[in-house]
Amino acid sequence: MEIVAVGPGFGAELRGVTLSDIAADDAAYQAVRAAFEEHSVLVFRGQQVTDDIQLAFSRRFGPLEITKVGALGAGGNLVILTTIGPDGKVVPPDSRLALRNKANQLWHTDSTFKQIPALASALSARIIPARGGETEFVSTRLAFERLDAATQKRLENYFVWHDYAHSRGQIAPGLASPEERAALPPACWRMVWKNPVNGRRALYIASHAYAIEGMEQAAAQKLLAELTEAATAPGTSYMHQWQSGDVVMWDNRATMHRGRPWPAHEARLMVRSTIEATDADGVASMRPPSRQAAE
Ligand SMILES: [Fe+2]
Repeated sequence: MEIVAVGPGFGAELRGVTLSDIAADDAAYQAVRAAFEEHSVLVFRGQQVTDDIQLAFSRRFGPLEITKVGALGAGGNLVILTTIGPDGKVVPPDSRLALRNKANQLWHTDSTFKQIPALASALSARIIPARGGETEFVSTRLAFERLDAATQKRLENYFVWHDYAHSRGQIAPGLASPEERAALPPACWRMVWKNPVNGRRALYIASHAYAIEGMEQAAAQKLLAELTEAATAPGTSYMHQWQSGDVVMWDNRATMHRGRPWPAHEARLMVRSTIEATDADGVASMRPPSRQAAE
């Protein structure tokens, strides 16, 4: 396996390894897992991807998330991200499906609003537009490391509230349905996630974050906006240009990402699998102290 750096200080393309190798072989998995902990974003090119192969590969990293209500693929382990409607045609730009794609274009981290946060997401390209539709990543680990020591210390003791309805509300009021709101109550996590393997810390914020425990709302929103802006400053991102056969996996504990727009009439179909974070991945230390004590 060859590791080739792709982004500014994070991100790597892994060559000479397939998703099937990783699913079937312990040594291949261990090597890829080490690269995942180190580089945060992994790119695999030229893969033969089926749903089964993607699932077998993803399961190596931990338990799979069940896709939430209101998403395509709900109840299973895959999320279908598409602009192709049930009739096989590309949906109009003002449809709910298209607006949801727009919400993916905000800087975010997957599943921060869930009761179990996500360790990783794997995204495979199935149908890609001729241009546009890239996925852009930043390292919130490097963003944290750019802060001064006093700020780092302060942020480590903040707890942030995340809500799916908040990020969707930024695109269109009511984009999160009553069913989704009921199934997805807000979740609260420490603002800084320490990786238990290498001890490196990362900001855990993004588009679902709407409040900070014990902080006045205007100040909290200002701080979240400033941290997001600094984390996504020009020159800090890796832009993945999708090719057929690409699979990208990222560490949700240490990155933010966003989808980039593409011509509205062009079809795009991507399939995501999401791996839940476990205590071995550092979840316990992310819970507010009152909840740590209760467990
Ligand atoms: Fe995402």
